[in-house]
Amino acid sequence: MSSFWSGWIIVLTLTCLGLVTYLLYSTVKSQRKELTDETTGHAFDGIEEYDNPMPQWWTWMFVLTLLFAVVYFFLYPGLGSWKGYLGWTSAGELEAAQAKHDRKYGEQFRSLAAKSVDELLENPKALAMGERVFTNNCAICHASDARGSFGFPNLRDGDWLYGGEFDTIKATLLHGRQGQMPAWGPVLGEKGVAQVSAFVRNMSGIDTGASAADLEAGKGLYQTTCSVCHAADGSGNKALGAPNLTDNTWLYGSSKAQVEYTVRNGRNGVMPPWEAILGEEKVHLVSAYIYSISRGKGTPADAAAEK
Ligand code: HEC
Ligand code: HEC
Repeated sequence: MSSFWSGWIIVLTLTCLGLVTYLLYSTVKSQRKELTDETTGHAFDGIEEYDNPMPQWWTWMFVLTLLFAVVYFFLYPGLGSWKGYLGWTSAGELEAAQAKHDRKYGEQFRSLAAKSVDELLENPKALAMGERVFTNNCAICHASDARGSFGFPNLRDGDWLYGGEFDTIKATLLHGRQGQMPAWGPVLGEKGVAQVSAFVRNMSGIDTGASAADLEAGKGLYQTTCSVCHAADGSGNKALGAPNLTDNTWLYGSSKAQVEYTVRNGRNGVMPPWEAILGEEKVHLVSAYIYSISRGKGTPADAAAEK
């Protein structure tokens, strides 16, 4: 913030404070001193108002709030870029809370994070902690049951964009992922998009109603344009996160309109990186949790629900 705007805000704030003080002073000064039976002259629906002074305690409350404002502006940030005598910041408060949390739970996380995935799978307490990390950070996108939704992959189904080995899941979480499906509309034109989309839907067993000629043309386009990433047989490529197009799992929908939209405009799903946010230890635990649910292993919560 430039010092001009800081000064501007200080002037505005102090002027307002001064005006309010003056308003209070002039109101107290101009009103009569003793109680009276006279009314102000206003009447509304038969209700009239005595022209009496404000109660003294009321005036003092105003004075106190004004004093409070002055003391507050001195101690805390509020006046332009003045940081406040106490040096309080919301970031500092967050850091203190995090440090406290880390002292309390850090030891627990550290001892569990040192264990191998096979050990963690046998440890319901570790999986429950992983589940809690999931609920707090991941459920917002992948849904609370981890079954995902449009654009957000299902993490339970054993079908993977990038791979379901423990180390791959952990790498996905630590560094994030970014799907790179290019937009093919400008390259193939509307007709080409329709043909290759029909071919791709046909590959996963959908009855597209497209003519044999269109499917044949779509196949040709597929081999020249798409097979580099999705493989010649459509089975996908986990190193690129290019999905298998022959199965019935669709990240972006399987309808004619949806697949054509995907092919025409491309798709770029973003999985954020978590290393800096959660730290390696929590990532380790939540990876074990994902690994366990993707292999159909019940978690403690599942087991409780089944009972
Ligand atoms: C902002 C939304 C968002 C959040 C929050 C999020 N993810 Fe993701 N995640 C995605 C998207 C989108 C993808 C798919 C990326 C792509 O299309 O290439 C993904 C992909 C994944 C994958 C790879 C799936 C596969 O098939 O290979 C895993 C595993 C995963 N997320 C786990 C997690 C975990 C665990 C968390 C919490 C720590 C989390 N995600 C938080 C959006 C999110
Ligand atoms: C550069 C590699 C690349 C090429 C070439 C490519 N794709 Fe993709 N495709 C991807 C990736 C990566 C994704 C996943 C995008 C995401 O996760 O957001 C994807 C997603 C898709 C999907 C969505 C699948 C679903 O589950 O919803 C379809 C359909 C698709 N591609 C069809 C095609 C067709 C048809 C072509 C050729 C015209 C093609 N792709 C060419 C990389 C590629």
